[in-house]
Amino acid sequence: MAFPAQRPRRLRTTPAMRRMVSETEVRPRQLVLPMFVREGATEPVPISSMPGVVQHTRDSLRKAVAQAASAGVGGVMLFGVPQVHDATGSGAVDPEGILNVALRDVRDEVGDDLVVMSDLCLDEFTDHGHCGVLDADGRVDNDATLDVYARMGVEQARAGAHLVGPSGMMDGQVGVIREALDEAGFADTGILAYTAKYASAFYGPFREAVNSQLRGDRKTYQQDGGNAREALRELALDLDEGADMVMVKPALAYLDVLARVADVADVPVAAYQISGEYAMIEAAVERGWLERERTILETVTSIRRAGADVILTYWATEVAGWLDR
Ligand code: PBG
Repeated sequence: MAFPAQRPRRLRTTPAMRRMVSETEVRPRQLVLPMFVREGATEPVPISSMPGVVQHTRDSLRKAVAQAASAGVGGVMLFGVPQVHDATGSGAVDPEGILNVALRDVRDEVGDDLVVMSDLCLDEFTDHGHCGVLDADGRVDNDATLDVYARMGVEQARAGAHLVGPSGMMDGQVGVIREALDEAGFADTGILAYTAKYASAFYGPFREAVNSQLRGDRKTYQQDGGNAREALRELALDLDEGADMVMVKPALAYLDVLARVADVADVPVAAYQISGEYAMIEAAVERGWLERERTILETVTSIRRAGADVILTYWATEVAGWLDR
């Protein structure tokens, strides 16, 4: 009987050997913590479909951001949960709106020690829950929404965002925000573009997290889950319009898209491990069906391996504590 000459198992024999030849590394600096801050809250409000994640008060947000910073996390992404919703999402452009107030709080707390990012989208602020304003027929009006995004971007930059994150999938959003930022004197404020964002069932828990008013779906602006090539078209447009970083979202169900984008993008690529990915694992862990730390690390590693330079995950602070700096 012939012995196999090729024995890949030799490189798996000991922990030291496996560690030495490991191809993929995850570091705390590559993780970004998405956070929710709720206007008027006096206590953090738990999000039932995301056990362990809360809608922060302004105070608890500061503390959690400071914790993320000391864990070595690379950045935070803020989402506002306003008390009042209206048709145009006016809380989003109000300097005293919850997201803008929270951005100032966070910059006051951590200065430049973390990269502070903000969600630039209207769905948290509108009474219909769509990511843009509606036309007379109730459809999301792309170009009218761009005007609001431009103003929102300027307010977020003024409030201290290092990177604004347009997540509404309106055509031309990166370009108009870039122009508005430049005109307002915020040439150094960057844009993390949600480039390939799919109309996903995995956003479910997020809707609870931001008290979303949405009925229906976002299929006229978010991408169809079957389309990968289209992500490359979105990428080309965002880069042309001046995106500083690009993102693929969700992560786990779209690792192939992430890999294709990462292959050709000449800017850093982020991926967002979203609410439903979080909920799915936490729920299985709660039932004793999955090992928590191993499962979380395996998914985060897979997102890195597929090509993400930066990973947004609700576990960012905790995972950072498990990793080498
Ligand atoms: C839109 C936005 C959404 C998420 C991030 N930005 C919701 C959506 O598109 O429906 C989802 C994030 C998550 O599910 O964790 N502002």
